[in-house]
Amino acid sequence: MKFTVAIDGPAAAGKGTISRAVAERFGLAHLDTGALYRAVGMKSETEGLEPIAAAKALCPEDLERDDLRTMEAGQAASIVAAIPEVRAALVAFQRDFAVREGGAVLDGRDIGTVICPQAEVKLFVTASPEVRAHRRWLELGGDEADVLEQVRERDARDMGRADSPLRPAVDALVIDTSELSIEEAVARAADQIEARRAGDLD
Ligand code: CDP
Repeated sequence: MKFTVAIDGPAAAGKGTISRAVAERFGLAHLDTGALYRAVGMKSETEGLEPIAAAKALCPEDLERDDLRTMEAGQAASIVAAIPEVRAALVAFQRDFAVREGGAVLDGRDIGTVICPQAEVKLFVTASPEVRAHRRWLELGGDEADVLEQVRERDARDMGRADSPLRPAVDALVIDTSELSIEEAVARAADQIEARRAGDLD
C-alpha cells in the first residue's frame, strides 16, 4: 500500500516531533528531508566541496554525522537549499522514499508543494517565531535573542528563495502549534491521517 504524508513548515515548528509520532503510530517509514540539506551543507563545508558536488556525492554515512542538528548545520542547509541544482540532486531519492510500500511520512519545506503534490495527507505545521526560537533554545542552548535572529533569518531565506519556497500547499491542513501541547498537535495530525485512511476526505 502506498500512502504519503507530507509535513512542511518553518524551523522548530514541531514537524520532526509530529512526523516521528505519526510514523510510529501508523507504522509508516519516516524521512527527515532537512537532514539531507544539513548533510549537504556540512559535507560541503568540511570536505571543501562545492554544494552541488556535495549533493551529488551524498552517501548514507553523511546522514550519520553527529553535527547535523547544530545551528551551524541549519544555517548551512538553508544556504545550499536555495541552489536549484542541489535541490534537483535530492528529488529522486525523496520521491522514491515517498512511494515505498507500506507508506511514508516526509517532513521538510516543499514536500506537499513540489516533491509529493499527490500526497494523501498534507500538513503545514507552524508557530510564531518567538515560540519556535524558544523551543530551539531549549534544545540547543546559547543566547535566546541570537537564536530568534537565526530563526528569522532562516525563515526569510526559506520563504524568499525562487526555487521551492516554503509555503503551504493550497490543500494543506495548517496546524499552528504556538499554543498546543505536543500531544494536542500530534492528535490533530493523527486525526487527519485517520480520516484520509478511512476514505472520509477527498
Ligand atoms: O529542524 P529544522 O526545522 O530547524 O530544519 P530542517 O527541517 O532540518 O531544515 C534545515 C534547512 O534545510 C531549512 O531551513 C531549509 O532551508 C532546508 N530544507 C529545504 O529547503 N527543503 C526541505 N525539504 C527540507 C529542508
